[in-house]
Amino acid sequence: MQIVLIGTGYVGLVTGTCFAELGMDVVCVDKDKAKIEGLRKGVIPIYEPGLDAMVEANASAGRLKFVEQLEGTVEDADAIFIAVGTPTRRGDGYADLQYVYAAVDEAAALAKPDAVLVTKSTVPPGTGAEIKARIAKSHPEAVLHVASNPEFLREGSAIEDFMRPDRVVFGTDHTKAEQVLKQIYYPLEDKATIFATTVIAAEIIKYAANAFLATKIAFINEVADLCEAADANVQDIARGIGLDERIGSKFLQAGPGYGGSCFPKDTLAFLEAGKRFGVDLSIVQQVVHSNDKRKDELADRISSLVGPDLEGKTIAVLGLTFKADTDDMRESPAINLVNELHERGAIIQAYDPQGMEEAEKIFGNKITYCDTAYCAVENAHALTVVTEWNEFKAVNLEKVKELMAAPNLIDLRNLFDPQRVRELGFTYSSIGRN
Ligand code: UDX
Repeated sequence: MQIVLIGTGYVGLVTGTCFAELGMDVVCVDKDKAKIEGLRKGVIPIYEPGLDAMVEANASAGRLKFVEQLEGTVEDADAIFIAVGTPTRRGDGYADLQYVYAAVDEAAALAKPDAVLVTKSTVPPGTGAEIKARIAKSHPEAVLHVASNPEFLREGSAIEDFMRPDRVVFGTDHTKAEQVLKQIYYPLEDKATIFATTVIAAEIIKYAANAFLATKIAFINEVADLCEAADANVQDIARGIGLDERIGSKFLQAGPGYGGSCFPKDTLAFLEAGKRFGVDLSIVQQVVHSNDKRKDELADRISSLVGPDLEGKTIAVLGLTFKADTDDMRESPAINLVNELHERGAIIQAYDPQGMEEAEKIFGNKITYCDTAYCAVENAHALTVVTEWNEFKAVNLEKVKELMAAPNLIDLRNLFDPQRVRELGFTYSSIGRN
């Protein structure tokens, strides 16, 4: 099986590498020359545990190649996966499909008959049909089958998610395409349900899954607010409702609000898709609003311990990435928090195990970049934990307290045991645990 991946971003690189790991011949194509040259030398442009070793092993075995051009590569492919970016388009929140269509045009001109053209990128419902119409118009001679195969990979555990997925979903409108995709995913058949459906359904499944998960998070975050007011522990509520199998215990961790490259972007694009089909997705609308508001109000949690005037106060921020085990800061709650603290005149000292490089691009000289958690808390009037990195769970709190100017601890991820930190002398606030 010959597979071509167009786009070596997060999804393309992980997917291509995992296909190679499953024994297929994979070529990853990207127009970014520097990235491809780096990948050929084993330089992985993203932080994803286990990916570097897997790339190296498969590249050495000759199953995984990196090239800059589609021409000379795609002609032999049985399946061409499009994994280019679909950023939020400015103005209307819709997914910007220009890179997808550019890839479609290029592939359609070169692919062999009966090849399957698969969208891996998250695309709005109806895109598969548009791709089909586009090819019919621009390359009527091409015999390409259009399919959709959404990804459900989480950053930080993407390889595990690929190799042991809950399910593989793909949509095709042609038996030939269905056969090819079934063959590609055959090695995962004993580990996961392989669900074949229509293209439009596969496209909606991706958005609906992410919107539903975002809803779960926004819901538990609002319940956390209620717990703070009513003096209950949100973790008890999450356990109490999560034991009901219809609800499930996952994705019920209250925190600073969801971020990342998927939930914020996909919920907006889903809303826009609703509008296009004349359907009011009011629940998703409310989820987006609730999450945005939550992220914008994080600085108030610090003020409630330190006092309303943060001018000249030193605030330590531990964790900048949108979650642990990634260097990704896209839509991270830390961005809203840091910007608001800066606006209020606070001095910000920050540390993240993997996110410092990205952080510098976003914050410039707004903050002081520290090499360790201990350096970040020096003379701080408050410490805020934004990301649930394991190394923060193991931090020496006695030492932290000694280094701080005032022992205020705002734990936005509920990493610490409230009783213990209070016994250590901290004034402590966490999420949904009054
Ligand atoms: C998500 C989906 O999980 C994945 O299936 C999809 O393909 C891409 O989007 P990812 O963005 O990598 O993956 O991270 P995820 O682990 O899902 O977390 C997303 C956000 O929700 C993070 O900001 C995280 O901190 C937050 N979150 C998650 C919570 O606040 N509480 C939870 O219980 C779970």
